[in-house]
Amino acid sequence: MRKPLRSPSENGSGGEGTRSHPGLRQRPAARGALGDPDRSRPTARRPGRLGPHPAPSSPERRHREPLELTIMDIRDLRPAEHRPLRAALQAGERAPSVCNTRPWVLSDEGDRIAVVADSERRLDAADPQARELVISCGAALYNIRVALRAEGMVPEATVLPDPDRPGRLAEVAIGRAGGPDDEARAQGAAITRRRTHRGLFAADIDDVALVRKLGAAAAAEGAALLPLLSEPLVRSLAGLVAAAEHLHRYERPRADELAGWVRPVGSPASDGVRAEDFPGDADADGALFPGRDYGQGRIRGMLDSPGAVTGTVALLTTAEDTRNAWMAAGQALERVLLAAAVEEVSAAFHTQPLEEPALRAFMAERYCEGAHPQMVLRLGRTLPHGSVRTDPAPPR
Ligand SMILES: Cc1cc2nc3c(=O)[nH]c(=O)nc-3n(C[C@H](O)[C@H](O)[C@H](O)COP(=O)(O)O)c2cc1C
Repeated sequence: MRKPLRSPSENGSGGEGTRSHPGLRQRPAARGALGDPDRSRPTARRPGRLGPHPAPSSPERRHREPLELTIMDIRDLRPAEHRPLRAALQAGERAPSVCNTRPWVLSDEGDRIAVVADSERRLDAADPQARELVISCGAALYNIRVALRAEGMVPEATVLPDPDRPGRLAEVAIGRAGGPDDEARAQGAAITRRRTHRGLFAADIDDVALVRKLGAAAAAEGAALLPLLSEPLVRSLAGLVAAAEHLHRYERPRADELAGWVRPVGSPASDGVRAEDFPGDADADGALFPGRDYGQGRIRGMLDSPGAVTGTVALLTTAEDTRNAWMAAGQALERVLLAAAVEEVSAAFHTQPLEEPALRAFMAERYCEGAHPQMVLRLGRTLPHGSVRTDPAPPR
């Protein structure tokens, strides 16, 4: 059972020796390291760790406290002059993350924000190397940067600033006040609108210039967005997604892990994937790319997702496959997603084959000319409000 949220005075100082500011979201201190990157097998549940899925009926819950509560804390306890910092912390918390694990601790250190990996939230079975965890943290870092820019600051981000603390993935100094930044304002405003789409799209992007713009967004963060333009290539990639999805359903530790991140209906938690957000039948509606069956036959999804087209299929790649490259991939991912959201385009993700080393190596060779695939995306237009976040906007 997770500890209830305590008042700042009860919590003492934050993790990683950071100064705890009043109003900072209080979370358990993250371990400094991400775990053994060479470990390739899922581990058994460790004491005190968020382990495999408790039975759906179990009272044990590992979900986080509601985001609203967090933001209320920040709002109530922070003086008004900390607005850019507050906005950046809120924006960081709204980043996409694998299974909505939100595997970060965002620490307010006065003149900077630290992004620290919360390795308790790594998916041991699906993501033993923490690649997807780091990508998620990279996405949070991009949101922090863009929110600070939208607030008129010129942030300075350093990735992996301390080799002795590998879990400290980034620091963002708030920086000096800068001039107007229209791109950041538009993207900052899109942070709360952006939402992962699941199922078919209502329409394709149908705008070559926009696809190029999204490619430029990825390139600006040191990654590449490769649209797959040939139908046979798209179909073959869909086949790999289907193969991985079905393999994963067959493997007990993965299935347990995934089902453990389904948020129970009516839960006020802000992490995990809601049953309302994934399809009841992941193989239905003629979709070429099967969605992740988060419920794994135990919890039925409820999303009714009317749609007609697959959308533009694209791979996000990096030249290297290091932790640094994963941070770049995460920032590039969120930059692409926000640039898309500004133009009312949403993205669906299909990362199942990237969690199978042999399939990932095959994809690198056959689709990416040797670059490392980090994300599989479909991009398209949804019905009005089809991909708009349903949880209430946080109070300011
Ligand atoms: C590294 C990474 C991998 C993801 N893989 C998938 C996936 O395979 N299928 C899926 O439906 N969503 C995937 N997602 C999206 C998350 O489930 C989503 O971000 C999370 O549930 C929060 O929802 P939101 O993006 O609407 O805020 C992934 C996100 C990240 C960052």
